[in-house]
Amino acid sequence: MTSSSPSPVHTIEDYSPNLWLTPKVHLRFDLDPHLTVVRADYDVQLNGKLLGPMFLHGEKLEFLSLRLNGAVANPNEYKITDLGLEILQPPGEHFQLTIENRICPDENTSLEGLYKSGSMLCTQNEPEGFRKIVYSVDRPDNMMRFTVTISGDPTYFPVMLSNGNLIRETVPVEGKKEVVWEDPYPKPSYLFALVAGELVETKDQFLTQSGRNVTLKIFVEKGNEEKVGFAFDSLKKAMKWDEDTFGLEYDLDLFMIVAVEDFNMGAMENKGLNLFNAKLVLADKKSATDETFESIMAVIGHEYFHNYTGNRVTLRNWFNLTLKEGLTVFRDQWFTEDMTDPHVKRIKDILFLKEYQFPEDQGPMSHPILPKSYTEMNNFYTVTVYEKGAEVIRLVSEILGRESFKKGLQLYLTRYDGQGVTFEEFVSSMEEAYGKPIPLLRNWYHRKGTPKIQIEERFDSKENEWEFTITDPNPGEYPLVYVNSFAAFDPNGKLLVEEKRIQEGPKDILRIPASSEGEKPILSLFRSLSSPVLVDNFLSKEEIRILAENEPDGVSRFFAFQNLIFSWFAETLLEGDTVSLHEILEVLKSSFQKPWDKTYFSFYLTFPSLGQISEHLQSFDFVKLNQMRNHALRTISQTFTKEFQFLYEENRKTIPTQTKEEIGKRRLKNVALYYLLHDPSRGFEHLAVTQQREAKHMSEEISPLRYLIEVDSAEKETAISNFYDRWKHDALVLDVWFAAQVAFGVNKRSVVEELESNPKFTQKNPNKVRSLYFSFARNPLSFHEETGSGYKLIAERIKQLNGINPQIAAGLAKLFSQASKQKGNLPKIAKRELEEIQNLPQISKDLGEVVGKIIQSL
Ligand code: ARG
Ligand code: ZN
Repeated sequence: MTSSSPSPVHTIEDYSPNLWLTPKVHLRFDLDPHLTVVRADYDVQLNGKLLGPMFLHGEKLEFLSLRLNGAVANPNEYKITDLGLEILQPPGEHFQLTIENRICPDENTSLEGLYKSGSMLCTQNEPEGFRKIVYSVDRPDNMMRFTVTISGDPTYFPVMLSNGNLIRETVPVEGKKEVVWEDPYPKPSYLFALVAGELVETKDQFLTQSGRNVTLKIFVEKGNEEKVGFAFDSLKKAMKWDEDTFGLEYDLDLFMIVAVEDFNMGAMENKGLNLFNAKLVLADKKSATDETFESIMAVIGHEYFHNYTGNRVTLRNWFNLTLKEGLTVFRDQWFTEDMTDPHVKRIKDILFLKEYQFPEDQGPMSHPILPKSYTEMNNFYTVTVYEKGAEVIRLVSEILGRESFKKGLQLYLTRYDGQGVTFEEFVSSMEEAYGKPIPLLRNWYHRKGTPKIQIEERFDSKENEWEFTITDPNPGEYPLVYVNSFAAFDPNGKLLVEEKRIQEGPKDILRIPASSEGEKPILSLFRSLSSPVLVDNFLSKEEIRILAENEPDGVSRFFAFQNLIFSWFAETLLEGDTVSLHEILEVLKSSFQKPWDKTYFSFYLTFPSLGQISEHLQSFDFVKLNQMRNHALRTISQTFTKEFQFLYEENRKTIPTQTKEEIGKRRLKNVALYYLLHDPSRGFEHLAVTQQREAKHMSEEISPLRYLIEVDSAEKETAISNFYDRWKHDALVLDVWFAAQVAFGVNKRSVVEELESNPKFTQKNPNKVRSLYFSFARNPLSFHEETGSGYKLIAERIKQLNGINPQIAAGLAKLFSQASKQKGNLPKIAKRELEEIQNLPQISKDLGEVVGKIIQSL
């Protein structure tokens, strides 16, 4: 039995337009970290004809007063509940509503609404945080024009920011200063932002294509002002790219970013005032890895691109979240492809999808990219809505071609400017640009689970042709349209045919002439993952090997090699003994001769992680898989010691800059080191130690530490403490240090407990929680340890976090999704632990929804 009363479930069928809208609002904040008074003056407008009560959302607010058309309302004219306030008889179709309440930012540890982080007060309102600030019609289909007055003590709040343009600033009198901000663009409450505090302003500018000068500002806490250069460069690149690619020019004269220490997610696209997790803004070569630099560019791009896809054209309701997120992820992926290397970027995105989204879609949290129902919307900011959503947009772009796609997007943005819409408006704009309907496309929004494609082959001797039947065996109510980019090769790896096929529905037949009598062509299907599907393996090891060496498409070649590795694992599991690594070694041997670009080669050489292997094989005996993996790594290391030594030496000297060449060198050097450290002689650990000591770039410094921990080297303790001594002043670098110690290997429970007592650790900071608890829970050897000690630890921490930060607690609970697939008593133990969580007297909606779903799978 659950002890809390069930929270309402929102379903897509129940959606109905707002009865009342508030097209204009003036907000006033009297700031005080402990008791902030907020007043809202709304222009209220009846939407439709039928006069009825007006409901305003409001949670955890202390009500002060309410006025209707200027007159103080009687308590019998309204009703206040835990969820909001109802005005029983609104005075007319159009009226003025003034409402005042108090909030307490410094006690708000949920990091939603107005809260305190370091020396600043800041907001996070998407999706439903605004109702924790002030009574409001807090839905994305209520668009408001905002004017915001902020009043505060200038010694604590020298900087006071909101969306749009600063239109007035008073001189301080009696310890108070006032600023007024006005945003000319109507927007829903979730895009409202306020920041106030002792922040350092850094500045740059951008000249738009039409010749306007836009002022760019990044605000940081003192001491971080030297770490904003890369973020500014990324922002300017993103602004230019959106102009060049889609003709989209920034629409205000000021664009601001604030770096926040305590932040639940990556970043937030508030109009003209983006808020960022500090780790996605601040970087210099000493403290940031190449991966961090790339994420900064991608996320700055992402939030900036939301200015059109999300802000100018917004959502009608939260079910349609993927309309802005899938689309904007696709745009940021495209941006990074253009700024770096398109093949490498595509490889990374597919790896991410396979490692995180495919499992989500096959577990208890599976949902369509357009969820049909939710209890807590925060639980649906998922890899499915984001990354699978982006794959569906990519599919549209593959059907239309990128030029027509651009036209379709421009049409969509022009036609629906200033409105809140649904995926239907997007899809129909694309169809218009395409010139005809795209059958079955909409079903991608409704179907959950990764389609599993099966292949059957047949030889037609009369025609000397091979026939391949491609089937989606379980279309259910939602048959789909696919883009199947495929190629066929002869046994020497020579390309025979290449085609992009649009498959409408669950079945398609490819006919390919045999190159010589009866000879079967080797098929490479859904190249570069042209549709987000899983394809049953239908190739022999030899055929996979041929693709791994000869596929001209670098992405598909990479995945062919990964498949070769997976098929070795599959065979070894089946035969119970170690199968020869011959084919893998052959491919590796020839790869050393290839003229590939360094970054690409470093990816090609990267051995799949335990998580990737187990997900691909759907085998969860992690101890055994890890033994096999170590055996393979040792064999590869011994076979190619010379090659790896050579690679290491050749790329040893690097320059700490973010150029393609230097990034490639660092990656290659690190991969070579990784293999060398798996040499059973253990003769190469000095390389790691020296590299860490002499590192000029964080990518060179952190990798040896991670690897020494992974191979359980005698040097690891010194490496850990040296790193700490060097970086204990830098919170962001310490996050990586915490993670490195628990992310790999057995028995990390005691390490977690020890690190929790480090003075730099706190459960209140989401980055720290992610570094320690999430990294541990993503380490299968420790989390799924057979006695259940990992489950108990994490369940205990979830209970603690429930009282601090429900969103983070629920996110951590999601990592139990794989428990039902584990061996022995683990599913039972997980169930017991989750039931205990479910019985918490104060369980949040967030956590209750997640835990409830996972328990059903156990
Ligand atoms: N819209 C933001 C972004 O994609 C993320 C907001 C996440 N919100 C949340 N409650 N998890 O950039
Ligand atoms: Zn987004």
